[in-house]
Amino acid sequence: MSQQRSITIHAPATVANMVCGFDVLGFAVNDPYDIMKIRFSDRPGVTIVNEDAYNLPLEPEKNVAGAALLALLEEAPDVKGLEITINKQIKPGSGVGSSAASAAGAVVAANILLGHPFSKPDLVRFAMNGEKVASGVKHADNIAPCIYGGVTLIRSIFPLDIIQLNAPPLFVTIVHPQIEVRTADARSILKQQILLKDAIKQWGNIAGLVAGLQQQDYELIGRSLEDVLIEPVRSILIPGFDQVKKRSRDAGALGGGISGSGPSIFMLSRDEATAKKVEQEMHSVYDAINLEHHTYVTTINSNGITITEQ
Ligand code: HSE
Repeated sequence: MSQQRSITIHAPATVANMVCGFDVLGFAVNDPYDIMKIRFSDRPGVTIVNEDAYNLPLEPEKNVAGAALLALLEEAPDVKGLEITINKQIKPGSGVGSSAASAAGAVVAANILLGHPFSKPDLVRFAMNGEKVASGVKHADNIAPCIYGGVTLIRSIFPLDIIQLNAPPLFVTIVHPQIEVRTADARSILKQQILLKDAIKQWGNIAGLVAGLQQQDYELIGRSLEDVLIEPVRSILIPGFDQVKKRSRDAGALGGGISGSGPSIFMLSRDEATAKKVEQEMHSVYDAINLEHHTYVTTINSNGITITEQ
């Protein structure tokens, strides 16, 4: 294996929770994505080079990509050192899996460089160490779709049990209001106890969503995009949330909600024209309250992380 060789990958943004599936459902999107390059290094351990303006920590144990790579290196004792160059396009704290893209992208790229010694579940396990750095807990609902592509169900993380779900063609509109919501904060405000009647609604919706995706039943998908547990608590952190939701549905969206822990909001539509109408509604909500924001109209990414150069 040449020590000069380098691998460049694109790691996609992801939408965790998919409204009703807190910590268990997520999907990858085609835009935005991070660009990362990895190569062997004579310097022991992990060396991080930032090519973007986010000033993320250079100490590997404090950096999500670094922490994920350190976990991988523990199981690859023959490797002396790795250097990772990160060009983030997914803004940290935006709610579309920025930390997962860094962590998952780093370990997938390293695995390719090393000749594929690890399985996808191994890579998810390593990458979850990055999520722990970012939010204090290991969750895989951004990492799994980032690595596997498409829509994934994380039935369990200990032990890992990841199921790839089929999905009909879906267009995704995302709005990112320019405020920061830290995942750790958005998790700390959640109730630790829930009512049985709410749990019944929630698991009905999760089962309905999974069935709707498998059966390509858009109406069932739309009806199931309801969250009675998390959204009522978290949505207060996101200005304009109720308006965006109502106006998007009125414009023809199947439904949607908070992307991950926010502040981004996503909406699913059957066709591109509707997804673009939804984007206009999002603009008008945030223009009216003078809140800077970015939007994306994209589709579900079925490939996950892709190699662009090797
Ligand atoms: N499931 C996690 C949460 C995703 O909602 O806290 C964070 O991106």
